[in-house]
Amino acid sequence: MKYTLNLGAKDFSSDSLVLVSAFEKTVEAKGKTKESKAIVNTHWSKELKTAFENIKTSADFTGSLDSTFTFHLENGTTILAYGLGEKKSMDFEALRNSAAKIYKSIASKHKEVAVQFDGFTLKNKAEESLNAMAEGLSLADYKFDRHFVKKSPAKLKEITFDSAAKKTGLKKLQKTLDDTLVVTESINVGRNFVNEAPNILRSTTYAKEVLADIKGTKGVKTKVLGKAELKKEKMGLFLSVNSGSGYEPQLVHLTYTPAKMTKKTKHIALVGKGLVFDTGGYSLKPSGSMVNMKFDMAGSATVYSAFRAVAKLGLNVKVTCILGMTDNAVNEFATMPDAIVKARNGLSVEILNTDAEGRLVLADCLDYACDQKPDAIIDSATLTGAVLVSLGNQVCGVMGTDQKLTDSLLKSAKNTDEYMWQLPIIKEFHEDMKSPVADLKNIGGSSFGGSSKAAAFLSNFVRDGIPWAHLDIAGIGDSQGHKAYCPTKGASGLIVRTLVDFLKNS
Ligand code: BES
Ligand code: ZN
Ligand code: ZN
Repeated sequence: MKYTLNLGAKDFSSDSLVLVSAFEKTVEAKGKTKESKAIVNTHWSKELKTAFENIKTSADFTGSLDSTFTFHLENGTTILAYGLGEKKSMDFEALRNSAAKIYKSIASKHKEVAVQFDGFTLKNKAEESLNAMAEGLSLADYKFDRHFVKKSPAKLKEITFDSAAKKTGLKKLQKTLDDTLVVTESINVGRNFVNEAPNILRSTTYAKEVLADIKGTKGVKTKVLGKAELKKEKMGLFLSVNSGSGYEPQLVHLTYTPAKMTKKTKHIALVGKGLVFDTGGYSLKPSGSMVNMKFDMAGSATVYSAFRAVAKLGLNVKVTCILGMTDNAVNEFATMPDAIVKARNGLSVEILNTDAEGRLVLADCLDYACDQKPDAIIDSATLTGAVLVSLGNQVCGVMGTDQKLTDSLLKSAKNTDEYMWQLPIIKEFHEDMKSPVADLKNIGGSSFGGSSKAAAFLSNFVRDGIPWAHLDIAGIGDSQGHKAYCPTKGASGLIVRTLVDFLKNS
């Protein structure tokens, strides 16, 4: 898709399709007690208003949220008037959703569209409005269709934002648009990884494709550790998850160093669970719960997308990104329940349930990340079904050891209109993760508070003095169709924007 910004616009940049907004106003009808609705289109040109009013049925269009009215100018231009509801109830998230709905309604019908952007500017904030609108459009412009013989690509190829604002503001607004598109492109790259089938995207192909995707990005260094290297690193927990697999484990280690490092430049480590498929291992998942476990790598895709965006934006923050990739499968070498395994940091773990594998991979990856001496570590994982029970399937759980770090993430989630809620790690949960025969066990004595207990387990692998936060995206990672800019089924790409905002402000 080509996106263009056209400031100082006197005319529409398309004579094919023009998108204009309309707001709704509730007015008291004369002589009656009942309220009626009226359209607010004071920002329309005289030509537009006349053409609109000349059509009798236009009187029924009130500009209510997501309603539309299409009419034509004399020169043949189609005008799509899009209702944004009452101006005071419209916020950036609503704009993001409306932009996604607009995309869906025109993508298969029109080649180009000129957006009359000033009518979509909320609260006089052009940058935020452009950001939200471009996010909604470009995140809706995503389809995982690579396996269809017959594809039906979108007709829409060009979106132009026309604004009467002075040309002097172009540089700033252009940067907003460009930066937004870097983030959404990175989100869509991550979505593709998650959506790819597990018989096609093995751990080894995943690692290769990540390296191919990031290749050539300024300031980025890459390294991949395979089975032999993980053995050398004594990553016993990670290896125990991989032991039932026909494919090598892969630890992808990426570093982005900004061009101008100073003493003030922060170093953040991102760690992601990259289970390309989770069968549960010997503690096999029932077949109904196993379907869709290709999505168990969404944590790694989330941190990779954020890393990619930050590196491509050239932000002034150093980022280490550690992706722990394997499948959790069963063969004669697979780890059995009751196994006792040694972690990289020396702690022994009794494995009572091989389906609680994500925490084992993450534990060794977290310890490895500590070696890089970051100022903070954030991990992201589809770690527990319990997070869906506690927070619902539309909220990301955050847990951690440092309230300041957790608060910063919660703030970034708010800034980007993503849902995140904190869960506690109390000392009783730590107690519950102790084993009678080893330092730790990989599941709690009861399944209550499962997300927090998993976090309590993970905290044992983060060295003292390094602030750490854990994001459980098992609920929010896929099937977020309640947001118009997310696919109904498949990877959502949510939480990437939160992480990018956090890293921007680090
Ligand atoms: N990958 C799953 C978590 C999951 C469940 C993600 C449902 C998305 C939807 C994880 O590896 C797992 O199986 N966790 C177990 C932990 C339990 C055995 C303590 C779970 O949540 O049931
Ligand atoms: Zn599992
Ligand atoms: Zn899993």
